[in-house]
This record gives sequence, C-alpha cells and structure tokens, in this order.
Amino acid sequence: MFIKLFSRLYQFGLKLFVLVFPFPKPKLYQGSEGLQDWAKTIKDKGETKLLLVTDETLVNLGVINPVIAALENEQISYSLFSQVQPNPTIANVEHGLQQYLDNQCQAIVAIGGGSVMDCAKLIGARAVKPKKSVKQLKGLFKILKKLPPFYAIPTTAGTGSETTIVAVISDPEVQQKYAVTDLVLAPKAAILVPELTTGLPGHITATTGMDALTHAIESYIGNNATPFTKKRSLVACKLIFVNLPKAYANGSDTQARLAMLQGSFYAGEAFTRASVGYVHAIAHQLGAIYNTPHGLANSVILPKVLRWYGKSVVRKLAEISDHCALASPSKTATEKAQGVIELIESMNQEMAIPNQLSEVQNQDIDQIVDAALKEAQLDYPVPKFMEKADCRGVVEKLVA
Ligand SMILES: [Fe+2]
Repeated sequence: MFIKLFSRLYQFGLKLFVLVFPFPKPKLYQGSEGLQDWAKTIKDKGETKLLLVTDETLVNLGVINPVIAALENEQISYSLFSQVQPNPTIANVEHGLQQYLDNQCQAIVAIGGGSVMDCAKLIGARAVKPKKSVKQLKGLFKILKKLPPFYAIPTTAGTGSETTIVAVISDPEVQQKYAVTDLVLAPKAAILVPELTTGLPGHITATTGMDALTHAIESYIGNNATPFTKKRSLVACKLIFVNLPKAYANGSDTQARLAMLQGSFYAGEAFTRASVGYVHAIAHQLGAIYNTPHGLANSVILPKVLRWYGKSVVRKLAEISDHCALASPSKTATEKAQGVIELIESMNQEMAIPNQLSEVQNQDIDQIVDAALKEAQLDYPVPKFMEKADCRGVVEKLVA
C-alpha cells in the first residue's frame, strides 16, 4: 500500500516536472524537399563539417545515399562513422567520439533506427563532457550541457528516438543495459524522409509501427498524460491506424511511409513526456531474456494488457476510437474500447504478427513478472496497478 502511494506521488512529481520545464521540441523537416531545406539551413549556419552516424547495413543498402546527395549538393563535408552495432556499446560511442574529434566536426547527424540515434546522442554527450565516462552519465540529468548541433534522420517509423530525451547503451563488460536521460539529448531537428523507409521489409514495418502505436496508446491511457501529450497521442493513433496497413501492403507508398514517420514522431513526443506502461515493462524483459525484437514483443503484448486493464481504460480507449472515427457514435464507451482492442488484434493478424511468442518458456515466467513489475513500479504512471498474479496471467497468454 505504502509503495503504491509513494509511486503515485513520485509519478505526480514527474508530471509536474514535465509541466514546469518545457521539453525541447525538435524542428521538423519533411519529405525530400525538407531534406534539401535542412541541408541549406545547416550550411547557412556554418555547420559544414559533420559526423554522420549510421550502421553498415544502411550504408550497404544505400539507404543513406539521399542524405549524402543532399549534403554534397550544398558542399557540406562529412566523416562517416558506420560502426554502430544493433545494441550500441560504450566502445561504439568512444570510437565515434574519437572520429568526431579527429575530424574537428561541428555537428552530429544520426541516420538510422533507435540504436544509431542512441549512439549518436551519447557521442554528442561525451563531446561536451570529456571528463565523464558514459557510465558516469547513467541516470537522470548528468549532462546538463548543450550538445553540439544534433540532427536525427530516422530510417524506421517506430522508436520515436528522433524526439526523445533518452539514450540506451549496452555495457558488455557487466552485461547491462542502462539509460542516460537528459533534456539536452533531444535532437535539434528531425528530418522525416519517407524514401529512406520504402525498402523496409514488411515484418519490420509492421512491428516498428506497432511499437509507435504502443507509445501513443500507453502515453494516452497513463496518468501522466498532459493536454499536449494527449493531442500528440491522438494524432499519432489516427496516423498509424490509417497508414500502417497501407505501408505494410505497399512498401513503396511514400504517403503512407511519411504518415508513419509522423505518427512515430508524435507518439515519441507524447511518451517521452508521459511515459509508457506495462506493455513496455513486459516487452523489455523478453528483449533481455530472449532477444525478442522490441516492436514484435509490444505488438503481441499490447492487446493482452489492454484487455487486462478492463474498465480502467474504457473511457480513454473510447476517446481514441472517437478521435479516429473507428466506431459509430451510437455505440457505448465499452463497445468502442472493445473495438480498439479488436482492431489492434486484427491488424496484428493481417500483418502476420503472431498471437503468442514461441520463445517464452513457462519456467521463466516468474523472472519476467518480477522484473516487469519492478521496472514499472516507480516510473510508469499506469492506469491500474498489476499484482503478481495479474502480470502472470498476461505473460502466460504469451506462451505458445
Ligand atoms: Fe517502444
């Protein structure tokens, strides 16, 4: 009882912090024209020596080529750092920092998914905090110093990392992952170029898109939603419900791809302020134990957690339904909420996302439940607290 009360007080403190200290909002550039405009803008600012942070796959597939062309068009020089691993390590950050310093770069551009952006954020953090190791930056507000100009160009529509204030890093020495959180980590601008995402395979489009939807929904139904985050969550839900099936069915549909990038960005703006909930808490444990891709885990868990929330989320899910015009206005709130959950389940089914995860083993359930509840307890302003048995009930539904 005392712990629950303390959690609610702590979460209320976080909400007040968000309301009192406005989070930085990255400027948005959109489409191929937006990419050109951004390149012109940074040239005008005199930022003509960049560190481009990306990964080998994106280089080999030519995904970064349109960005390179836009920079070359403006005669902006760059040093390419493409050694970011799927779960970026401290060594990745240090190598990137060395390249940044060796080439006397003036700004950092991340082209990639969440891993690339996290690594780029920490290269920037280390550049302004040369005496502090990445490990010493772990936790809340350890940087507190403006990063070099930092720009984010996402190549997936899901993580929202192009607008969040957090970076996650792996420390292989102690087999730990930890988060660095600071307002200064928000990029100065996000450049949403749909052509960079048209080559994404269907299952990645589907699961990353459902990750973005999970951000939008968990931030909306949680207790820390503010008028700003609610608007962002609703806009994101509509964009994703309408456009994810289109982007999945036709990867070359640049309109749907741009809408998904927008949805992911707005959902990112919402959850970086209003946080997430039990869907993420459980998904993170599956990532840690089985390496289950984050978006896949969220897609499968989302409808199950929403069903468990029951009455506590009916009003809010009905509001999402109304905003997205998912049901006839004559339906009851309960019917509308049920409709939202059923829509998520049918989207999963149509995008070949399974209903269970074969890697989840019965003998691991206690470990998953304990770790998920521990993760959620303080930081996640969930609409209703889960007891162990509740969480177990949800996780058991994941077992194939
Ligand atoms: Fe997520």
